[in-house]
Amino acid sequence: MFIPKEFTVYASEELAEKARQTLKDNDRGGYTLPTDGLYPFQWNWDAGISALGWLTFDPPRAWQEFHTLFKGMWGTADAGGANDGFLAHIIFHKDSDSYFPGPDQWGTEALSPRTSSISQPPLHATMLRWMLEASRSPEARQLAMEHLRVLVPQLLRHHAWWYRCRDPQGSGLVVNIHPWETGMDNSPAWDVPLRKVPETTRPYVRQDTRHVDASMRPPKAFYDRVVYLMDFNQQAGFDPDRILRDCPYRVHDIGIISILQRASQDLAALCDLLDLSDPAQQLRRQVARTQAAVEGLWSQRWQQYVSRDAITGELLDHPTSAGLLASYAGFSRGSADTTRQWLTETAYGLPSTRVNSPGFEARRYWRGPVWQHINMLIAKGFEGGPDDALAGQIQQSSRELLQRQGFHEYFDPLTGDGLGGAHFSWTAATYLFWLHGG
Ligand code: DGY
Repeated sequence: MFIPKEFTVYASEELAEKARQTLKDNDRGGYTLPTDGLYPFQWNWDAGISALGWLTFDPPRAWQEFHTLFKGMWGTADAGGANDGFLAHIIFHKDSDSYFPGPDQWGTEALSPRTSSISQPPLHATMLRWMLEASRSPEARQLAMEHLRVLVPQLLRHHAWWYRCRDPQGSGLVVNIHPWETGMDNSPAWDVPLRKVPETTRPYVRQDTRHVDASMRPPKAFYDRVVYLMDFNQQAGFDPDRILRDCPYRVHDIGIISILQRASQDLAALCDLLDLSDPAQQLRRQVARTQAAVEGLWSQRWQQYVSRDAITGELLDHPTSAGLLASYAGFSRGSADTTRQWLTETAYGLPSTRVNSPGFEARRYWRGPVWQHINMLIAKGFEGGPDDALAGQIQQSSRELLQRQGFHEYFDPLTGDGLGGAHFSWTAATYLFWLHGG
């Protein structure tokens, strides 16, 4: 691998200390900001990844991250009651005016804490299972089991929300209704379905480009549409039936589908440990349904699963890293061969969109840059199996990049430059848990 000379090389223990300090600096008392300024609240999937990092030096704090997150879970008394188990992508525990759209933009003023009205990839059951596996001493295992007894029933409600509200017909493929919900905000895969979404005409002021150069963030046309979709949810009274019927943006996102699939298997395994046999069986039935239905998302062209427009039925035929989560999800066509091919095309690990494919942009948010937590999930899908060496290769390229650049939000796959927010929690956590060895 070619490493430009000007990169700083940190010794790994020194870097581990910086990683711990990053989490401590972003701690707001029970929850972790992704990074100060740019993302000043608790984010859903960031929280699950951050907890992995905390586990390596402060296990009670790691478990606390989930309890704080689940304070934001909607119940039967919230917003019409049809969304029991809904877990928003942002929980606004405290106010901040450094982010748009903040707590006053979502129509959730009646809630405490206030939240957004869209979710995010439901990876928590998998994170909890990894945390249990990493809790090896009898004391650590006892602590883990105590927390799991509280957290697993909450996660069962959350998974039930996904299947009930986002796949009411039981097709096996949940629907997502907002690009921010995918966590992979402006992936080129969303360009076609977003074209059908009207641009908002109401005024709003973005904050993200005050923190990060506009060339690394989504353009205005994207924001005009995601703001429209946010307001649409509120006008629909957060009614899941109405949203699934009328929302102008409905997509079968292969990222959410793969992450939910893996998490449901891990949640079923956690249920086994807690003698919760009915929910475990029900989860396994959902998993079998998805296993069959996902074949409809196979791309012959890119030899991987891709997303699909749930309104038109058209494949969104873009090779994104979400499609490399097939082995992680346990889908019958795994992702090892395609991942191996991708690794030959860049010096710095797996980009979010395949290099030189339509829509690839090396430095713009989710259109090309490398995200280390995604690399970790993809690699974990190969670990311990016939493609274990591939997991090692992804790990090696990721480690070298972090040792040279530190904990950026994302990285240019062609030059290795650190991009987006700096001092970023999930990148630091990924280093501690996966790359530094805990
Ligand atoms: C943002 O504001 O860019 C976030 O990714 C939305 O969750």
